[in-house]
Amino acid sequence: MKSVIICYFSGTGNTFKIVNEYVRFFKKKDYEVTLHNMDEGTISYNLCDFDLFGIAYPIHAFNAPSNVLKFAQSIPSLPKKTKKTYFIIKTSGEPLKLNNMSSVKLQSILKKKGYILTNEYHYCMPYNILFRHTNNQAYQMWQMAVNVIPLDARDILEKKEVKLSNFPFKRCLALIFRIEHWGARLNGKHYKVSDQCLKCGRCIQHCPTHNITLENGNFKFGNHCLMCMRCSFHCPANAIQIGLFNKWKVNGAYTFHHYDENEIQTHQKYCKKAYQKYFEKNQKRIEAAKK
Ligand SMILES: Cc1cc2nc3c(=O)[nH]c(=O)nc-3n(C[C@H](O)[C@H](O)[C@H](O)COP(=O)(O)O)c2cc1C
Repeated sequence: MKSVIICYFSGTGNTFKIVNEYVRFFKKKDYEVTLHNMDEGTISYNLCDFDLFGIAYPIHAFNAPSNVLKFAQSIPSLPKKTKKTYFIIKTSGEPLKLNNMSSVKLQSILKKKGYILTNEYHYCMPYNILFRHTNNQAYQMWQMAVNVIPLDARDILEKKEVKLSNFPFKRCLALIFRIEHWGARLNGKHYKVSDQCLKCGRCIQHCPTHNITLENGNFKFGNHCLMCMRCSFHCPANAIQIGLFNKWKVNGAYTFHHYDENEIQTHQKYCKKAYQKYFEKNQKRIEAAKK
């Protein structure tokens, strides 16, 4: 039986949702699928034992989150002259081309270890910071992803290489934006919990870096925050204030499952052209595949 391993990080669930669509596809094609959640740290598997290897993450400040890079650093190097191919799956809130550079550092870490990127795919999923997409927008993004993932995954199986387009100075730009990795740690120290807190402990339990503790009834936030938003996004009482970025906080899961004619549309002009291009390009692919 052929096999695939996907190592993923997902702060608030979008990337995991996308990964699960890949899982569904690969299983239909009779692949044995192994998922490794980066929350659990390094892998004990030998990646060469799998026919296919993928990495999935949400884009943070046009980069991969710091824990994803740390995870890549922890992957053992391949023996000299051995090469292994891999694919990347990533999600982000807007479809700007700048997001294409998010994997430059990840690729360079893995290249030094003998891993060669062959396929890279980017899916728009609703923001978990900045502003709340409407449920209709979330629904549209999700439907697009569901329809296009089988085409992308088929390319991987058929060994048809697909790379995202390049642009000048991407290494430099990505490096500048990686200041977010330090920013997240600094800002994370300033998270606060309001009186609305239910003391359910969900934030403590699910923080990927175990950065939240409860000491003498008071919440303490350490300096390992990734700003993945898991704590504040899923807080049932919306009680977590996210420091300097509190105005950009998004709380509560999206409904991905229906289109509501009466829902009030917000931020309609935001990145309008980029979204249009994203939807049109993917729609064309879906229609071409039907022929
Ligand atoms: C700290 C942070 C930075 C982000 N930066 C970007 C960005 O540069 N570009 C973008 O399109 N989306 C950005 N997003 C939005 C997420 O990439 C998007 O909502 C993603 O689907 C979240 O996936 P997850 O639920 O798997 O964590 C950012 C989110 C966070 C929390």
